[in-house]
Amino acid sequence: MRVLKALPQLLLLTWCMGVPLTAMAVGATSGVPEAGKLIYEQRCAVCHGPQGRGDGPEAPFLSPRPGSLVSAGTSVKSDADLLAVIANGKPRTAMPAWKDLLTDEQRRDVLAYIRTLIRFYKPPAQLPPNEQH
Ligand code: HEC
Repeated sequence: MRVLKALPQLLLLTWCMGVPLTAMAVGATSGVPEAGKLIYEQRCAVCHGPQGRGDGPEAPFLSPRPGSLVSAGTSVKSDADLLAVIANGKPRTAMPAWKDLLTDEQRRDVLAYIRTLIRFYKPPAQLPPNEQH
């Protein structure tokens, strides 16, 4: 019984310790958010906005507008899907192909950074309660 009670804490502990370990193990292939941040701010924020909400200074002039990268619609897409869009661009939109401008690794870095924006995204506090999900 005592062991069972301690199970959640144990799991949490191994989970906490596991994070840096897995991050190190897969770091080389899955992208470094810190490096991606620099790329994002230089190349993507102008359209996608500093927080990925699709509100960059260029956004009002584009049709279709750059979507919010922190939206549920984008968040649920797989790394492979989003990497393909980043590499090849999106037909009939302003989204450029980055494969000649950014290396494979840089595209992964920038995606890793976008994923951190999603993770820490909170809906704005001023939303009326019925619009919060
Ligand atoms: C000239 C403006 C512009 C720039 C610069 C730009 N994008 Fe986009 N992006 C768009 C538009 C427009 C779309 C299409 C609408 C949409 O799906 O959000 C798009 C779509 C995307 C999508 C697909 C979202 C989805 O849900 O399918 C990703 C991922 C993305 N951009 C990442 C990036 C990254 C990473 C960079 C920088 C390396 C970047 N974009 C730079 C305009 C831009």
